[in-house]
Amino acid sequence: MPKVLVTGGAGYIGSHTCVELLNAGYEVVVMDNLCNSKAGVLDRIETITGKKPAFIEGDVRDYDAVKRALCGVDGVIHFAGLKAVGESVKKPLLYYDNNLGSTITLLQAMEEMGVNAIVFSSSATVYGDPATVPVKEDFPLSCASPYAYTKYMCERILEGACVANENLSALLLRYFNPIGAHESGIIGEDPNGIPNNLLPYIAKVAVGQLPKLTIFGDDYPTRDGTGVRDYIHVVDLAKGHVLAMDYALTHKGAEAINLGTGSGSSVLEVFHAFERACGRELPYMIGPRREGDVPEYFAETTKAKELLGWVAEKDIDDMCADTWRWQKGNPNGYEE
Ligand code: NAD
Ligand code: UFG
Repeated sequence: MPKVLVTGGAGYIGSHTCVELLNAGYEVVVMDNLCNSKAGVLDRIETITGKKPAFIEGDVRDYDAVKRALCGVDGVIHFAGLKAVGESVKKPLLYYDNNLGSTITLLQAMEEMGVNAIVFSSSATVYGDPATVPVKEDFPLSCASPYAYTKYMCERILEGACVANENLSALLLRYFNPIGAHESGIIGEDPNGIPNNLLPYIAKVAVGQLPKLTIFGDDYPTRDGTGVRDYIHVVDLAKGHVLAMDYALTHKGAEAINLGTGSGSSVLEVFHAFERACGRELPYMIGPRREGDVPEYFAETTKAKELLGWVAEKDIDDMCADTWRWQKGNPNGYEE
């Protein structure tokens, strides 16, 4: 079976993707500098799959280390990057350096080592505030933060590399809102400090570590006034990466593909689904809108189905039940 280098493979989406790659028979090498993750996740991947990925602790901006990591590798899934939108506004140079630097260094090392398939973590954030929903891959792109610009620019860098090297294949996967955890409850999302994102925040309220959820605005032009997003189970997303790797290894050129469910849920709908998952009412209040938030978006998913044969299978109740199982069993995340 082919061998895949997974950059950022110790992180949230990367760890779930390692599980699905190993289950599908791929050989896996993880490269991660652990700036937002813990090495202990690799033992947990082994607990789930019976196989432990090879691990290289290192930075993807280190050309020589990446070249060594690429020995014998057939394709790369590139998750490594910084992802906090608010932090990117305060520290733009850190984000440009890390996210662009890692992608450019990786592509240079791939060229040198003759590796011609890459799957890249992009984001629905490249659509900005879309004029209509569902959002299609050919919609105009617009960026509202340095983080969004890094995803936009990496997509253009990868497209340019495919024009220059006709053997190269690059899949630009635009994730909508990944949530949930592996159904075993053994791996999940473990953000540092107070979470910025909705699901980890609700989970910490449910486990008693935060007093209540503040809903950022209930006066949006949506069905209940709260923001609507396309939440996608992280295991569905991980399976999409396995199919994307299969595709990248057998095709040439660049393709941008949405990975979402194709329907949206409001903040209140997600909140109530989480209450069902944990079996009790949870405290919340309505606060002001959060700067930069858009009212509503969800994905058009036809392209993922046609090119990859991928459709999301899990619903919002699965996502909340799996998040709750992980949070309840691991109230302090990966810390022992
Ligand atoms: P994460 O922070 O859990 O994982 C990223 C991993 O990359 C971490 O383990 C971190 O230590 C590592 N890393 C960062 N910079 C590195 C570098 N220079 N060298 C080596 N390792 C490095 O984040 P995630 O949620 O798993 O996201 C994975 C990717 O998907 C990111 O590129 C992110 O921007 C993108 N994405 C995430 C979301 C989301 O909501 N989680 C949405 C859209 C896109
Ligand atoms: N929300 C609250 N209270 C909270 C947190 C979030 O009401 O405490 C609301 C937000 O206003 C929004 C929804 O919950 O309506 C989802 O917010 P998240 O922060 O979970 O997710 P975003 O849609 O804002 O952002 C996510 C990723 C970004 C990515 C973006 C587009 O975090 O990295 O999707 O893909 F850029």
